[in-house]
Amino acid sequence: MPLFLGGWFQWLTGPQSTFDTHGPVAKSQLDVFYVTLWVTGITFVIVVSILSYATLKFKARKTDDPHAAIPHQGHGNPLIELSLIGLSVLALVFIAVPTLKSIWYSYDIPAERKENAYEVNAIGYQWWFKFEYPKEQIDGTGTLVAANELVIPAGRPVRINLRTTDVIHSFWVPKLAGKVDMIPNRGNHLWLEADQPGYFWGQCAEYCGESHAVMRFRVIALDEAAFATWVARQKTPARSVAADAPVTGSPAAPYEFKNPGRNAPGWSAEFDAAPFANWEKQQNVNAGENPALIAQGRQLFQQKTCVSCHTVRGHDFNGTTAPDLTRVGARTTIAAGLLENTPENLHRWIVHPDEVKPGNKMFVGVPMTGGTTMAGYINLDKDTGKPTGHNIVINDDEARALVSYLHSLK
Ligand code: CUA
Repeated sequence: MPLFLGGWFQWLTGPQSTFDTHGPVAKSQLDVFYVTLWVTGITFVIVVSILSYATLKFKARKTDDPHAAIPHQGHGNPLIELSLIGLSVLALVFIAVPTLKSIWYSYDIPAERKENAYEVNAIGYQWWFKFEYPKEQIDGTGTLVAANELVIPAGRPVRINLRTTDVIHSFWVPKLAGKVDMIPNRGNHLWLEADQPGYFWGQCAEYCGESHAVMRFRVIALDEAAFATWVARQKTPARSVAADAPVTGSPAAPYEFKNPGRNAPGWSAEFDAAPFANWEKQQNVNAGENPALIAQGRQLFQQKTCVSCHTVRGHDFNGTTAPDLTRVGARTTIAAGLLENTPENLHRWIVHPDEVKPGNKMFVGVPMTGGTTMAGYINLDKDTGKPTGHNIVINDDEARALVSYLHSLK
């Protein structure tokens, strides 16, 4: 019983529960669920009660029971039949009216609120999300781009244009709104709003290949001032740390790295207990940085060809097929919402990406137009799919330098 109740409670309040809504769109969708639940629930109780009564009352217990003989077979009762049809239609209308209202409501931002709306583009990739902020233009670079953590203003409607570069994905933030497909060659959209600042879990909700189940993201809603500060900071180039910069504070102790193996979970209970506070903390520069190691990591980022796919704006790294890493150190998660952004997890993701996210493009390469492939960590034989050699090998020391560099990008 405690296990059952514990599971039930988690189901109602867990990070991806649709029963714990934090915005008007999710609330409207939950209301429709409850109307449907009540109407079908009451119908169920009435039908089961009548059926149980008739079954028990008219059951033949012995062969000489008066109910044992087949009763008179009538043709039905027009009054009862018409009433049942009428009641069924009434029940359906009772469900249909709020459902249609909610469909229209969740389709687009109400006209009177459009003026105050914010707009972002969400683009699905196998297996991560790119977020573009068309209202935030950076001189000489264009649109502000982020990945896997969508920061929005709280208390304002947000229109999200949904696109995909490859297969069908689906955008779902259970506590705010959902879910709408991202379909190739078709523009879809949804809108959502967070009532209060907060930290919300998102998930791709349409099967899209090997790592669909681990294609996640986060939504962070900030109050007006915090959002403006965040945007202003995003528009600046990536933070640079000179190799000979003085070390501030006592140097951070080196972490222990031990590969936890395939599909091992990558988050801590401490983080999950206060994700929003942790997001705020993550925006600060890490204490005890090692400037020389950061500079070495920046060089390795180029030498190991990370630059072919990733952008670090301001560091002359301009790859576009993979997540923008200009502020990766300030994100709470890596690998598309899958791992908490700790040095150990980033190390694991850099050295063993295939064990974290099977089939990911960093490992197997990116298919390009014209049938070629931009090399990933390994070469795969075109016919058998078996690895034929390594393109990128990163040893433990190199991974530590890359982790230092990426975590300095705040
Ligand atoms: Cu993307 Cu499932």
